Amino acid sequence: MDILQSRPSCKIGPSILNADLSNLHSACTKLLEDGADYLHLDVMDGHFVPNLTFGHPLVKCLRSKVPEAFFDMHMMVADPEKWVEPMHDAGANQYTFHFEATKDAAALARKIREVGMKVGIAIKPGTAVDVVVPYADLVDMILVMTVEPGFGGQKFMADMMQKVKYLREKFPDMDIEVDGGVGPSTIDACAQAGANMIVSGSAVVNAEDPKAVMSLLRKSVLKSLQEYEIR
Ligand code: DX5
Ligand code: ZN
Repeated sequence: MDILQSRPSCKIGPSILNADLSNLHSACTKLLEDGADYLHLDVMDGHFVPNLTFGHPLVKCLRSKVPEAFFDMHMMVADPEKWVEPMHDAGANQYTFHFEATKDAAALARKIREVGMKVGIAIKPGTAVDVVVPYADLVDMILVMTVEPGFGGQKFMADMMQKVKYLREKFPDMDIEVDGGVGPSTIDACAQAGANMIVSGSAVVNAEDPKAVMSLLRKSVLKSLQEYEIR
């Protein structure tokens, strides 16, 4: 591998799904103060996944309270085309749709870029990793789900790391995100496989010291990045 190639930087993005949603503004502010690089916001519609969360009106309110934060929208919805403009207007920065939810991933990716957001494409555990390859030039990030989407607090699926490794080898510059069951006991596997965008929900939000947990996650990813650079 070319020694001059460098992997994209480490970013820690807590998921607020299991946070105190009645106090979302202060929960987000605290996470950002504690070292979060971005906020991972899980949108669920009760169709694509068997759970419901929130939509663009909430994102808009949150944006007015946290003007600087990077919002990574994880769109677990059946009709991802429908919410591109509303989410952009609400202040979203990145729009991550599920490959399984759309008939035309290329058109959707172009639409997201056109309105001015970064593009993420996500795959569920049962989806083969190579389906995303044709869209690599159209997306900024690939999200490899490490649990079935729908709920926080599930068990990390270690066999998804093969997908992360495959993508990292093929796309050294791509942002690769992992989401689901990621925390202190599973971060090394993610980091060694090559993930650089780390979503962690319950492991951060339920921790006594979220700052220490995010710092531990970051250290693991930085260590793997360093090893990669000197290889
Ligand atoms: C699950 C969501 C995740 C979830 C992660 O469908 O996409 O972002 O909040 O939570 P943990 O880290 O608890 O698995
Ligand atoms: Zn998510």
